[in-house]
Amino acid sequence: MRSFTLLSLLVLALNGVEPVRGHASIWHPSMYGFNVTDKTFPYDNRPVAPLTNYTFDQWWFHGHLNYPPNPGDYFELPAGQVATAEIACNKGATTWFNSSEGGDIRQGNSPCPNSPTSAYHTTGFSDLKGCALAIAYESNVTKIQPEDFTVFTINQTCVWYRFTDFAVPARMPPCPEGGCHCAWFWIHSADSGGEQNYMTGFKCNVTGSTSNVPLAKPQVPRRCGADPDFGKPEASPGNCTYGAKQPFYWFQAERNNMFEGTYAPPFYLDLYNFKDGAQDDIFIDSYADIPPPSPNSTVVPVLQQPQGTKTIASSSSAPSAASSSLPAPSSQPTNQVPFGTAPGRCSACVKRRSQGSSNLQRRSLPFRWLSHSNVNAKRKFSLWHPF
Ligand SMILES: *[C@@H]1O[C@H](CO)[C@@H](O)[C@H](O)[C@H]1NC(C)=O
Ligand SMILES: *[C@@H]1O[C@H](CO)[C@@H](O)[C@H](O)[C@H]1NC(C)=O
Ligand SMILES: *[C@@H]1O[C@H](CO)[C@@H](O)[C@H](O)[C@H]1NC(C)=O
Ligand SMILES: *[C@@H]1O[C@H](CO)[C@@H](O)[C@H](O)[C@H]1NC(C)=O
Ligand SMILES: *[C@@H]1O[C@H](CO)[C@@H](O)[C@H](O)[C@H]1NC(C)=O
Ligand SMILES: *[C@@H]1O[C@H](CO)[C@@H](O)[C@H](O)[C@H]1NC(C)=O
Ligand SMILES: *[C@@H]1O[C@H](CO)[C@@H](O)[C@H](O)[C@H]1NC(C)=O
Ligand SMILES: *[C@@H]1O[C@H](CO)[C@@H](O)[C@H](O)[C@H]1NC(C)=O
Repeated sequence: MRSFTLLSLLVLALNGVEPVRGHASIWHPSMYGFNVTDKTFPYDNRPVAPLTNYTFDQWWFHGHLNYPPNPGDYFELPAGQVATAEIACNKGATTWFNSSEGGDIRQGNSPCPNSPTSAYHTTGFSDLKGCALAIAYESNVTKIQPEDFTVFTINQTCVWYRFTDFAVPARMPPCPEGGCHCAWFWIHSADSGGEQNYMTGFKCNVTGSTSNVPLAKPQVPRRCGADPDFGKPEASPGNCTYGAKQPFYWFQAERNNMFEGTYAPPFYLDLYNFKDGAQDDIFIDSYADIPPPSPNSTVVPVLQQPQGTKTIASSSSAPSAASSSLPAPSSQPTNQVPFGTAPGRCSACVKRRSQGSSNLQRRSLPFRWLSHSNVNAKRKFSLWHPF
């Protein structure tokens, strides 16, 4: 009983009092750094650790190029269908918990079990800033440069669900022999932490291709959507980058392509013409001509290829209307928890949380809690910020 009280207090303290520094990554055996822990490098370089002000070698593929996946492990991208990825603050919260530091801490669809939403840097569902998957059609990872990655799918409601769907464009051509390389990119809301970039590289392969048309050379994205926080109520569609776009490389010590300030981070949203879902206009034949973008331009390019799916065709061909707003409430999937019931907020979830902590208690009591110092016990409860 006494232990229970102490444990509860500890959990409360970690969730409420300590500055929360939980972070996130995509997790899959095809990733670089799958088994990297906070001990592998002289600094905390777990896949979930944020990348800020790093040298190129430190941030590129998270510095994990020497920690490749096992041969044959690829993340499959079915052309024209959905690929479901797992995003979490700790490997223990995913399907691959059995090779994690802390064991099975899975909790349904929660990316960060037993944590407030600040653990994944958001104040709530309306404060989500999206994440991206990018691809390079190159099997030799050392040949890939940042300018080679093209964002091919966006999920504007991440990080929120552990199981996050990414729509793969129908016209993705096949990968070369040996497969492709992909990477997950995320920059979170400015009101939920510092200037943090996330990049997790992985091996991927397109399956079910029906097209051989290659991707266009990706360009740097431009801030062209409505930006009411910065006195810009209307979008400027003529200022957008259209077609294939690079991911954001921001706030590193080297090789940035974005130079926005601390409080105006670039986001994988309409703000940078990253529409939710499959990026169907990234191919060399997607546009006959792309006029040079500029703030006062009113000219926008016209899609010339019939695009993947009906929904996407309509949103891509009407950029002026569609690019002006953040995801509207109607974009909330109907089969998901409603707005305002973040895992850390609703009462049912509070109940789940306390059950979660007693599970932790049960698991940890026999060894850690009784035989180790408080510091070790604390580590046990703080899987995603072990310091
Ligand atoms: C980046 O790191 C350098 C060297 O460690 C330091 O001098 C500089 O203040 C840092 N910049 C930011 C924005 O953190
Ligand atoms: C990661 O660790 C697990 C468990 O030790 C092992 O089975 C797997 O092969 C490792 N994966 C890589 C890529 O090192
Ligand atoms: C760990 O779990 C994964 C996913 O379920 C499975 O493929 C793998 O064989 C398991 N590894 C061990 C060592 O049990
Ligand atoms: C990969 O690319 C590097 C750099 O271009 C080259 O030195 C190396 O031989 C290549 N490896 C393979 C297996 O082709
Ligand atoms: C984003 O992921 C969520 C959770 O998996 C899913 O419901 C939603 O449809 C995805 N959005 C897009 C545009 O694929
Ligand atoms: C990638 O997928 C294609 C289509 O299914 C397959 O033919 C190819 O062998 C796969 N490549 C790798 C490296 O697994
Ligand atoms: C146009 O895009 C540039 C580059 O991202 C950005 O700095 C500028 O604020 C944008 N201007 C307008 C009016 O959208
Ligand atoms: C763009 O429009 C703004 C506001 O209408 C104006 O102040 C500015 O001079 C124009 N810039 C160019 C390059 O035409």
